[in-house]
Amino acid sequence: MNVMLIGSGGREHALCWALAKSDKTAKIVCVPGNAGTAAEAKTVNVKLPSGISPEPGSIDFFVKTAGEHKIDFVLVGPEAPLCAGLADALWEKGIPVVGPKKDAAELEGSKDFAKNFMKKYGIACADSITVTEAAQAESYIKTKGAPIVIKADGLAAGKGVVVAATREVALKAVNDFMKAGTLGQAGKKLVLEEYLQGSEISVLAAVSVSPELARKGKAAIVPFVAARDHKRLLDGARGANTGGMGAVAPVPGLSADVSEAFARTILEPTLKGFIAERIEYRGFIFFGLMLTDSGPKLLEYNVRLGDPETQAVLPLLDCDFAHLCKAILDVKNEGTLKEFDIRWKKGFVCAPVAVSGGYPEKYRTGFPIMQNVPPTAQNTQDVKIFFAGAEYADSTRRNPPQTSGGRVLAVSAFAPTLDEARSKAYEALKTIRFENMFYRTDIGLPGAADSGNL
Ligand code: AMP
Ligand code: GLY
Repeated sequence: MNVMLIGSGGREHALCWALAKSDKTAKIVCVPGNAGTAAEAKTVNVKLPSGISPEPGSIDFFVKTAGEHKIDFVLVGPEAPLCAGLADALWEKGIPVVGPKKDAAELEGSKDFAKNFMKKYGIACADSITVTEAAQAESYIKTKGAPIVIKADGLAAGKGVVVAATREVALKAVNDFMKAGTLGQAGKKLVLEEYLQGSEISVLAAVSVSPELARKGKAAIVPFVAARDHKRLLDGARGANTGGMGAVAPVPGLSADVSEAFARTILEPTLKGFIAERIEYRGFIFFGLMLTDSGPKLLEYNVRLGDPETQAVLPLLDCDFAHLCKAILDVKNEGTLKEFDIRWKKGFVCAPVAVSGGYPEKYRTGFPIMQNVPPTAQNTQDVKIFFAGAEYADSTRRNPPQTSGGRVLAVSAFAPTLDEARSKAYEALKTIRFENMFYRTDIGLPGAADSGNL
């Protein structure tokens, strides 16, 4: 089968690698892809022509490309095209999509929509209110005091959440978002949320829900092994918030009680809510959780897989990923997700990310990525480099890839223990060089995880 994969990050390289490993896939068309997807077997990178973006306005380009390559289904990596309705537009043209339609993508596209859904279905989460007037926000903050969390309603590329330790910081966030309009339309509505303390984890899951599947008792959300991102720039969870400096999976020391509480108070009511709202959702979902003293609480839904969590989780998958996508789609009644036998390797993955110096602020690109690879640290079954902001300057790939973004690559290493996985990952990372390369040295160590602490 032929798959079209949309996106250009490390997550998409990991998805491409997992698809390429399947004996069910003949071709993977990556739009636009990156240096990593270009070098995988069976792949072709298709550049987006200028003025074309992976959004519904460019639907003709995607339909034409899908036709040319006889695509069986499209897998969408990032959230923006899903929130803009690309899945709706492709389904309308008869092309199956792994990734939800616009209505369900609101779970990520609007914090207010997500909180209303959580409250309606009794999902464990922080108390909150939604405001549309700055004066309302200011008086709520004055009554509640700090710490408090201020969230812009719309998509804000990671800049829409302020965990405010003081009232002054909270009031400044309200001023920036609502009055100064620093986030444009995304900040015109705010969710003001109770501050939760604990440690954060990410649970990615496959989703196959439709009114028809629900009638047959076959609607399902199947969670993956839990992962942990490390969002802060510097060792010891200090410094600026980033798109993710590394991930591990599974999360060490996660108790059966936590998993049970997550299933009972978050996952199952989410499935019930999808069914009750007659939501059609075929794709992946990401539960961002805070593990508090009173159990796991849902911080956010994302309507896609996490980055860099995917680079840590997919190497643990011990079954065919393309087959899993088919089960999610259930297009030819080959078997539903509910019946799919999802299996995981025993062991751990540690996946530190190397970034361009200066990220997440200003950084330079265009530096060659050199690899001096000793035999023990090659791309083996257990160590894999997933490229993100990296591109080949020419299609022959004779020269090394060059940096083209902030997050450049992740090295994912698998081993029976997390300590061994860490050593392997960092050993391999030391063989890679590019100008201004920077990475955290503590991914997977105790004390490295994001904690929501002020
Ligand atoms: P979100 O986009 O909602 O996941 O928020 C981004 C980050 O802000 C999370 O990963 C947490 O570190 C932090 N955060 C969000 N909500 C809360 C909360 N209610 N309490 C404490 N920290 C939070
Ligand atoms: N790693 C966090 C995210 O993908 O949103």
